[in-house]
Amino acid sequence: MPSVDTHDAETRIGTLAQLEQAEAGCTRCPLYKHATQVVPGEGRRRARLMLVGEQPGDKEDIAGRPFVGPAGRLLDAALAEAGIPRASVFLTNAVKHFKFEPRGKRRLHKRPNAGEIEQCRWWLEQERRLVAPAVLVALGATAVRTLLGRPLTISALRGRARETEDGTTLIVTVHPSYLLRIRDADSRAREHEGFIADLRRAWQLAGE
Ligand code: URA
Repeated sequence: MPSVDTHDAETRIGTLAQLEQAEAGCTRCPLYKHATQVVPGEGRRRARLMLVGEQPGDKEDIAGRPFVGPAGRLLDAALAEAGIPRASVFLTNAVKHFKFEPRGKRRLHKRPNAGEIEQCRWWLEQERRLVAPAVLVALGATAVRTLLGRPLTISALRGRARETEDGTTLIVTVHPSYLLRIRDADSRAREHEGFIADLRRAWQLAGE
């Protein structure tokens, strides 16, 4: 049974600090059992731009902060290139606990499934309620799934702004980990340019 999903809980959570505290006790899905800790969203309370990734990775799980590993470094550089200060946005994930498969001493990332994404959406909704961003950026397929409520391909959604059910502007782009995996230099450069363009568009739409 989800431990926190009542109207009461929602009305008790009035600040990001309270939300973090509540998230720390999350048992809505089994992922909390093996993760080191929950990784809450991070950033300005009234950020006009919210970026949504998939789930914390190994480094994020240890640090308790989103986007501090290799994908986070790429994202930081991309934000800087797009002229967006990291401190002025709100960075979060569709799923707040690290899902992995142990392989010797390593922990290999595993994609969250539909049930885990669904259970964790409640927390994302609380972040959205408190931050109330003008624009959301979905970084990759898991973020698209949670923000649009169904699985859709990135390529079909890219290139123009859309709206979520509550009318928030949504920009869909690739996940930074995808860019890290591209081997061919030309393709990587092309995809990188597209990623920066998507971030710039989101920033402009946010009126920043
Ligand atoms: N990938 C994500 O989607 N989120 C993080 O926080 C780190 C890596």
